[in-house]
Amino acid sequence: MMKKTDNSILVIFGASGDLTFRKLIPAVYHLFKGNFLPKNFAVLGVSRTAMNDEEFRNKVVFENKELTKKVPDSDKEGLKAFADKIHYISIDTQSEPDYAKLKSRLEEVDQKYNTEGNYIFYLSTPPSLYEIIPRNLAAHGLSDQSRSWRRLIVEKPFGYSLATARELNKKLLTCFKEDQIYRIDHYLGKETVQNLLVTRFSNGIFEPLWNRNYVQHIEITAAELVGVEKRGGYYETSGALRDMVQNHLLMVMAITAMEPPVVASSNAIRNEIVKVFQSLRPMTKEDIHHNVVRGQYTSSTIKGERIKGYREEEGVNPNSKTETYVAMKFYIDNWRWAGVPFYIRTGKKLPTRVTEIVVHFKNTPHHLFAYNENIQKMNNELIIRIQPDEGILLKFGMKIPGAGFNVKTVNMDFHYSDLTDAYVPEAYERLLLDAIQGDSTLYARGDAVEAAWEFCDPILQEWESNPHVKLYGYPAGTWGPSAADKLMADEKLTWRYPCKNLTDEDKFCEL
Ligand code: BG6
Repeated sequence: MMKKTDNSILVIFGASGDLTFRKLIPAVYHLFKGNFLPKNFAVLGVSRTAMNDEEFRNKVVFENKELTKKVPDSDKEGLKAFADKIHYISIDTQSEPDYAKLKSRLEEVDQKYNTEGNYIFYLSTPPSLYEIIPRNLAAHGLSDQSRSWRRLIVEKPFGYSLATARELNKKLLTCFKEDQIYRIDHYLGKETVQNLLVTRFSNGIFEPLWNRNYVQHIEITAAELVGVEKRGGYYETSGALRDMVQNHLLMVMAITAMEPPVVASSNAIRNEIVKVFQSLRPMTKEDIHHNVVRGQYTSSTIKGERIKGYREEEGVNPNSKTETYVAMKFYIDNWRWAGVPFYIRTGKKLPTRVTEIVVHFKNTPHHLFAYNENIQKMNNELIIRIQPDEGILLKFGMKIPGAGFNVKTVNMDFHYSDLTDAYVPEAYERLLLDAIQGDSTLYARGDAVEAAWEFCDPILQEWESNPHVKLYGYPAGTWGPSAADKLMADEKLTWRYPCKNLTDEDKFCEL
């Protein structure tokens, strides 16, 4: 079914913030260049800083390096046409009367562009404003859909705990209806995360094996090369569990583990995601001590250069106990996954940037041939590489030519970069277009966010209340604390240490 791209205005709150420059404006530009935007479209930036339209356009378009570095000189004309669609208004978003100004500016832009009163409000502000802005919008009739549609995109973090996420959902629902609310998780906008659905449900060969009878364990890694950069202040209130696990990693896990939906509709898919979260085995205090490892990067020297430890970063408490690394083992208690351990890990200042899912299949029931390698390594693995080099790889055993029956592991792989039309859109491009088209499939539903919090909350509470829970240091540039290896070693397993490039055998491994 063709989706309808209605004429509309994208209203960005927090317009002078980092996300607007780095992600949102570049994403809208690429949609504009690709002719994906509706015929009549405009952007209205909103924030406190006093600026006029021209100043805002200069800031977010012409002087925005994140955007201009991707625009060839031949397209500079197009940049001007794009910038003309961008407008700005300065208001105090906390002050309800100021929304009258916003409303009349919106009406003016709406008339100029003939956008039929359809507005998307994007909350790219500090989370303290997530309740206030929707309330003020509603007070001025800006959530009312009797004549046009109104949608609200809410950035992460969605809540700080289960209680605050519930509270936020409750408050939002007094101003907007659930089907107007789009909770963004940009990992769902990544091409290979969506491809996982296609790989699983459009091929006959994977799904029959995708269960406890054939899968030994599943491993998900989201490694980052960078540290906290300039976000120390925010990160101190978050930590890796809130920043990466509660949202991105659990979502990727849910897409990996979900049952086939009945149809490819938003609610059918999102129902299956929620069921996975509901089936997560809750962690007892004992599980938290044994099956969850938290770490924090310490200073180190890489190639002669001294790298700062987390506690030395700007905005970070010198005695901080905030985790920059988490690894955990858990189970999904349902028919498909009973007894299959799931391992996930994420961390900052690891040796490379890579996100991947590895499905480890069980060994053959009987070993006929002599293996040159460790039997463990001979298990078939399906590796779904989410970034940086998107693709998919299957490892299997093959006979070494010549005498005897010697077996070695070989790879069957597909890289997105091999496609002739290899443009892989950025997550924000896909997600913004979906919101313009009213498709919420790749946005988190309120009940899913709460269910994911329900799983994470006891871990955070135990960490906060029990001073005996260990926080391991790991030197910046290493693969995290060795305690994480123990999680796997208990089952005689090891983590896959992924390179930057998807294929590593018989070739060099670039980190
Ligand atoms: C964000 C986190 O949600 O995701 C960041 O707040 C993290 O800390 C980022 O660096 C990772 O996203 P990506 O797309 O670079 O993997």
